[in-house]
Amino acid sequence: MAFDKSIKIAPSILSADFSNFGAECEAIEREGCDWVHIDVMDGHFVPNITFGAQTCKSLRPHIKKIMDVHLMISPVDDFIDSFLDAGADIITVHAEAGFHIHRTLQKINSHSVKSGIAINPGTPISSIENFIDMIDLVCVMTVNPGFGGQKFIHSQVEKIKSLKNMIGERDVHIEVDGGVTVDTAPLVSRAGADVLVAGSGIFSGGSVENTSIYGNNIRAIREAANAAIIEE
Ligand code: DX5
Ligand code: ZN
Repeated sequence: MAFDKSIKIAPSILSADFSNFGAECEAIEREGCDWVHIDVMDGHFVPNITFGAQTCKSLRPHIKKIMDVHLMISPVDDFIDSFLDAGADIITVHAEAGFHIHRTLQKINSHSVKSGIAINPGTPISSIENFIDMIDLVCVMTVNPGFGGQKFIHSQVEKIKSLKNMIGERDVHIEVDGGVTVDTAPLVSRAGADVLVAGSGIFSGGSVENTSIYGNNIRAIREAANAAIIEE
């Protein structure tokens, strides 16, 4: 997986039809997404439960592009192996998810998979300073994690800008997750984000029977994000 800073659209299947995940993943890939974002929730770290590694493994054959797994689980260490086995390309864990996040990253990095750190809206970027050289991605949460369809938290845009400075010339992606739409995409791309996760902003109004809506939404968000960078 070669590093590049171009805008990448990562639909979150949290807003897809849970009874038809395989077809939904194939549909968004056909409609032009770059990555597929998989939200794993444990009902403990976040107040919602989705699914686990077994579902991710079943989805793997339906995902030809990048499988971006966002683990909202705590404690997380004992589950890393099963998500590696599921075939994740990127495993993102939360900075807030354990006392020994450095150890968690060591564990992920001992395998040929990319590692990411997600930070909640209330967590400062200083919390990741000491392991910035161990990670391939920082996921800035622009909602409090747990549910799709929430409102974008605007105060996080400044955080993205500061993070971009902290990253400097390093090959580290800035992913933004939560409330990304055509209206908020320009704010985050201008601030320095290159991976835009969107759930409701892509799946709303579409279905596996009518996937062109997914394509329209993916293109609209990508164009809005790119236009804001070109304007600069
Ligand atoms: C939030 C999840 C997000 C979420 C995004 O807990 O990590 O990936 O599903 O959904 P929208 O785009 O609807 O905010
Ligand atoms: Zn997510």
